[in-house]
Amino acid sequence: MVLGFTGGALGGHLAGWRHRDAFPTTAMQLSCMVEMAKIAERGGLDLMFLADGNGVRQMDRPALFAANSPSDRPAVFEPVTLFAAVAQHTSRIGLVATATTSFEEPFTLARKFASLDHLSGGRAGWNLVTTQYVEDAKNFGRDEHFGRAERYERARESLDVVRKLWDSWATDAFLEDKASGRYLDPARVRLANHRGTHFAVKGPLNVARTPQGQPVVFMAGQSDAGKELAAYGGEGLFGTASSKADAQREYADIKGRMAKYGRPTDALKILPALSVFVGRTAAEADALFEELQALIPPPLAVSYLSKLVGFDVSEAPLDGPMPESPGESLGGTAIGRSVVEMARREGLSVRETCARVLPSMGGNMVKGDPRQVADFLEDWYTGKACDGFMLSMPVQPRSLRDFVELVVPELQRRGLRPPHYRGSTLRDNMGLARPADPFESAQSEASS
Ligand SMILES: Cc1cc2nc3c(=O)[nH]c(=O)nc-3n(C[C@H](O)[C@H](O)[C@H](O)COP(=O)(O)O)c2cc1C
Repeated sequence: MVLGFTGGALGGHLAGWRHRDAFPTTAMQLSCMVEMAKIAERGGLDLMFLADGNGVRQMDRPALFAANSPSDRPAVFEPVTLFAAVAQHTSRIGLVATATTSFEEPFTLARKFASLDHLSGGRAGWNLVTTQYVEDAKNFGRDEHFGRAERYERARESLDVVRKLWDSWATDAFLEDKASGRYLDPARVRLANHRGTHFAVKGPLNVARTPQGQPVVFMAGQSDAGKELAAYGGEGLFGTASSKADAQREYADIKGRMAKYGRPTDALKILPALSVFVGRTAAEADALFEELQALIPPPLAVSYLSKLVGFDVSEAPLDGPMPESPGESLGGTAIGRSVVEMARREGLSVRETCARVLPSMGGNMVKGDPRQVADFLEDWYTGKACDGFMLSMPVQPRSLRDFVELVVPELQRRGLRPPHYRGSTLRDNMGLARPADPFESAQSEASS
């Protein structure tokens, strides 16, 4: 069972940062990030994940903007830069940073993640996104974001080029032979020479082949195009399924698409997002949950719900039915659509919808004592609903520490988690194969 956690220092609950057990300050605090990485590493978690965007959000909703919700990120480090620092304080945990193919060039992407892989000794992962928030486009010389089809076309081309660039150098290209004066072997490098619809890149990359061969590529797209791209080239996929049956359907669907790309199903690990409220007893978990909910005033809740569903709900009466979506928006997400569907199906009011979805920010959640949480994880994992989880911790660092101290030992007792890290790279720990060095493959073909 692969386990990662979302590393935002604000915690995953809308009011998590206000809780007395939360970090006292989080804005631009490297120490918070290092502390979380170290706690997770103590518990043997496979990876720390940082979501990201390239814009400050919610300025048109002053109450929400002032209160700050964890996904708005008004004051955060650029994640690859941050992880380069975190890597120096850790030795095993994988470091998965988000970067967008919509506004970054493949050469820069390849270079940044290859550098991080070297700096971390083989622990780098790239969460390839096409950028969910349409307003980010305005920071990159565009009035409008690309449409979904074009975003994913660019993403696929970018991924191909990035991987070609990561394959620029043979593992043994850098001789550094002081006696002969040969620093490198010119026969052990190749150009990318890519000229496509969206990008033109000559290469080679100015970074040596990385410790993992290639950093691990994650994705988070939930649309049909997103799933197809994951089947084509993803090695990790974050999901949003909120029921086991949905997760099983998605799992079978996405894994079923891999054969046509010649990929074995275990080359992609599907990791649904999951908020965990754990306590020593179920009552302690309930108490934490209630404390956090009490910290969200109703106007803020409605404002956040509007953000989540992608349209303004604030005009609707709080105790009236959840309104229907006015139509598909450019930035509308699968989570937003499923929240509205669920609320309408169950006849929930706006207030009830808030109470239901805000604790987990619209995603899936589990609440209980360590055995109850472990039962949930085991049930989904053994039921082929997932290969592991992307955990969201409501209050940081308390929730992460609780998970590591309470749930991890229970998972280890059940044989669902190893007693120690299996290896030193993210690939080793996730059970992913190392991509072949194309220079070595060519050599062995020539000699056979
Ligand atoms: C766990 C998780 C983390 C995500 N992190 C990011 C992120 O950091 N940046 C981003 O732009 N989108 C992020 N997304 C959104 C997805 O990239 C994607 O845009 C969204 O799920 C909608 O899918 P689609 O783009 O295929 O329509 C995340 C989604 C999930 C489920």
